[in-house]
Amino acid sequence: CLSERAKNLLAVMSVEEKIGQLHQAAGGRSKNLNSKLTPEELDKVRRGEIGSYLHVAGAKELGELQKVAIEESTHGIPLLFAMDVVHGYKTIFPVPLGMASTWEPAMWESASKIAAEESTASGLHWTFAPMVDIARDPRWGRIVEGAGADPYLGSVMAVAQVKGFQGNDLAAGNTMLATTKHLGVYGAPTGGRDYGTSDVSERTVHEIYMPPFYAANAAGSGSYMTAFNDIAGIPTTANEELVDGVLREDWGFCGMIVSDWNAIDELRNHGIAADRPHAAALALKAGVDMDMTSEVYKNDLAEAIKRDPSLMADLDLAAGRIITIKEKLGLFDNAMAYHDEAREASQLLTPANRAEARKAAQMAAVLLKNDNNALPLSTEPQRVLVAGALAQDALTQLGSWRARGDVNDVVNIIDGLKNNAPEGIEIDYVVGADPYNDDVSGLSDLTEKAANADRILLVLGEHFDLSGEARSRSDLEIPPSQQAMLQAAIDTGKPVSVILVTGRALAIPEVDAGADAILNIWMGGIETGNAVADLVYGKVSPAGRLPISFPHKTGQAPFTYSENPGGRPADPDITKDTNRFMDLPITPLYAFGHGLSYSSFEYSDLSAASNQVTADGSIELSVQVTNTGDVAADEVVQLYMRDKLSFVARPKLELRGFKRISLEPNQTANVTFTLSPQQAAVYKSRNNWAVESGELEFFIGHSAQDLTSSQTIEITTSAKSKIPAA
Ligand code: IFM
Repeated sequence: CLSERAKNLLAVMSVEEKIGQLHQAAGGRSKNLNSKLTPEELDKVRRGEIGSYLHVAGAKELGELQKVAIEESTHGIPLLFAMDVVHGYKTIFPVPLGMASTWEPAMWESASKIAAEESTASGLHWTFAPMVDIARDPRWGRIVEGAGADPYLGSVMAVAQVKGFQGNDLAAGNTMLATTKHLGVYGAPTGGRDYGTSDVSERTVHEIYMPPFYAANAAGSGSYMTAFNDIAGIPTTANEELVDGVLREDWGFCGMIVSDWNAIDELRNHGIAADRPHAAALALKAGVDMDMTSEVYKNDLAEAIKRDPSLMADLDLAAGRIITIKEKLGLFDNAMAYHDEAREASQLLTPANRAEARKAAQMAAVLLKNDNNALPLSTEPQRVLVAGALAQDALTQLGSWRARGDVNDVVNIIDGLKNNAPEGIEIDYVVGADPYNDDVSGLSDLTEKAANADRILLVLGEHFDLSGEARSRSDLEIPPSQQAMLQAAIDTGKPVSVILVTGRALAIPEVDAGADAILNIWMGGIETGNAVADLVYGKVSPAGRLPISFPHKTGQAPFTYSENPGGRPADPDITKDTNRFMDLPITPLYAFGHGLSYSSFEYSDLSAASNQVTADGSIELSVQVTNTGDVAADEVVQLYMRDKLSFVARPKLELRGFKRISLEPNQTANVTFTLSPQQAAVYKSRNNWAVESGELEFFIGHSAQDLTSSQTIEITTSAKSKIPAA
């Protein structure tokens, strides 16, 4: 995995210089490096003590630093500049959970490409994205950063982002190194509390949580980040079997691995490292190349090597991998390509980038409910009262990890609705309750203004600071001030439609009961307001689909459509003695894959090219889909699988294909799916998956809970396999 240049450099570098490559230092405040351009800092770079900076940006500032590294350090090894460019750099797209709701990988790929073009124009080489952690428990605040609950959807979206960030050539100057994170099982902390133990079975690790990591590797992800959590007592930052074993040995990953922030030092808190040199040894042995900010490698690895000289070989490998990545990025040949100020001035937040962000926000929106076609608004003259502070809260629209997104660049919801209002529609606005505290004094204004309105468009949900890292919540309901606002709106007796703003799946039975329509826009990015207007006024039909189910109550989460049946499967008619809550339906409020449209679609029966296939053959399925409504709209056609009999219990349903298509009224499309029996492989042990002979049942449908027809395919032979199924 090491380049010739890396090997040659290793032969002449000192131990200190090698350790320097492993050290990632944090940038200055407000994400610029000005505070780092001090004589002391530049001296560290000259001495080769730093391999990388994170949370930095700026073509000029980073260029000055890079010049010192290249021209004045002993070996001229360039620096790597990194940032969490997660859903955009300057042009902020919807939060990742929203991007996943598009069910359109091409959109994620395009957004990541734009993010890479903008970031590299600002001097960056490396993003800490995609975040591919499968998350089934919406109490976990970081669910907002991933693709939700499903390994297949998660894998497709992981690949799209890696391709978008990295393109075909890492050295192109406008592509950037992706980091697939957080290996592994970061998304299943006990109780949804961030940073906690993920105590899941080995099978669940490999069948549910690992597939997106595998898929990202197959797509060429150049780096990975280990997670904060432990699995069965082993912190992943010290998990040699997972990092060096599964990722490197089994999957052939050749790139670089970075720890999470301070995570190497935290091995002491986990109670597995006696002191910092011990922590350094554990992480390095596991295969973690770069230390994000803990300075354990920088200050304590030399001592660890004294204690155990065999670590010298690991140090060489780690430094060699980092140098090799720098070479792949073209930094040895043309590092200054990233520091063109004119490019930075012209390539950020262009009209074309904004247009793509608007499209993404349209595509991400999920119409959860729409009684009596309350949306889109009719074109009749009418007075609409928009209520809710979130309608003007730009920070919330940017969401978690907003890179260089600026609140001043956001088109908020109220401005979008006003500026795009068709003739005859009058928009009035009232702030109502404060989403950041319990102040509901503004609700009397709402009641007063509603008297002059024909309908209320209520913007409610979670504010910015409730979703993201360390934002775990024990209660999935909308906060009390928002509940009060909902009730005040309902009490006016006017028709109420809700624009829901959230970074997670919520338990919203009151909203479902009280509102005619609910349009979930997640946290929609810089163009949220324009996209909401496009959807509310009917310029575009919503077609986003939920990547995670919404429970009736917090206690129903985590809920997955994809659980095992159990010996006493849940029965809708028997409240006791089956696998269910006595006081809740057996289904969630809104199912995985759910999303309504302004149009309607009819599916023909699912058909199969052949009902018998060998283990190395391919499964071909197709269905005709017709737009039977009277507006052009997108539809997401979903294919689910059930393995009817196996040596272990299998999930009731597993997503195994989907396609988002656009159809004019009366138009029909033939939608085909080609699958491999490999996608039904069952995990037996590391590197050992079984493709079994027997029957697979496939279902086509609008969601995991709305299946229309099925086909049974017999796999006539069995096979062994080494790779994850999804
Ligand atoms: O990339 C992130 C990670 O996801 C959480 N901890 C901090 C890192 C760097 O900002």
